[in-house]
Amino acid sequence: MTRISELQSKRNADSREAWDDFAAHRSRVTALLQGSATSASDSLCVLGAGNCNDLDLKALLASYASVQLLDIDGAALTAGMHRQSIFLDRLRAVGDFDVTGVSQLLSECSPTTPTSSADVDRCLNQLKQIPEIPGGPFSVVASVCLLSQLIEGVVLTLGEPHSRFLDVLTAIRRQHLKLLVELASPGGVVVLVTDIVSSATCPQLVQSIEADLPRIVSGAINARNFFTGVNPVVLRSLFSREPSLSSRIQSIEVTNPWLWNLGPRHYAVCAIVARLK
Ligand SMILES: C[S@@+](CC[C@H](N)C(=O)[O-])C[C@H]1O[C@@H](n2cnc3c(N)ncnc32)[C@H](O)[C@@H]1O
Repeated sequence: MTRISELQSKRNADSREAWDDFAAHRSRVTALLQGSATSASDSLCVLGAGNCNDLDLKALLASYASVQLLDIDGAALTAGMHRQSIFLDRLRAVGDFDVTGVSQLLSECSPTTPTSSADVDRCLNQLKQIPEIPGGPFSVVASVCLLSQLIEGVVLTLGEPHSRFLDVLTAIRRQHLKLLVELASPGGVVVLVTDIVSSATCPQLVQSIEADLPRIVSGAINARNFFTGVNPVVLRSLFSREPSLSSRIQSIEVTNPWLWNLGPRHYAVCAIVARLK
């Protein structure tokens, strides 16, 4: 196990019993994914499915002919499917799969021991490759609160003070967006769900009602108060500006934010939904 996968497994173990806390968030994510299906023969792939606390698997299997769940933490996927007691051939789990291909390399870095330029170059070269995900292409490809974790992996290994931190962050983000688009079939849909900011730095989230969230979240974004690398305005513009992505995109929208209440912390979350040509 790498340091990054160990950390993710520990977090998943800590939130495994949070099924009830996830209820409102689960119904938002599930409804968004159900609404993205256009035909009974559609297939869905969810990256970062983890404990599946944010996915109502039964409802998804009612909307999709097949569902593939993928995560670096295979044990979380197994536990998640057991919790929901769904054992169907058309529900498939791909566990112990690193969507970046650099978790091993990054796990060898530490913010306290500066990483050499050669190692950063190796990492950047690897991030030019898009990992081959089994089972694709899919009608709908979703990433569920995974991007912030991929970026946090860079923070905890290379470290923000490293002179090339931003190079690696932007490369990991670009690779993730490309992976989502490449994994989707022509005419398919990409749903990038991302946490934006939490009540740790935006305490108004705790008392807020849903109607106030767009204002609160825009205020936080304008004040540069959001998780590094996941500003939805920037994500949307990357999809529209980067030629390898924009050439495949028909339309793109950003949903209104919603709240993901995880007990001690509240997270504002939204989705960027890209419909492909
Ligand atoms: C915030 S959680 C998403 C919540 C999760 N769907 C649930 O209901 O428990 C992010 C997920 O991304 C997974 N993950 C993090 N880094 C990954 C990587 N490099 N490759 C694949 N999955 C990764 C974690 O193991 C975790 O399950």
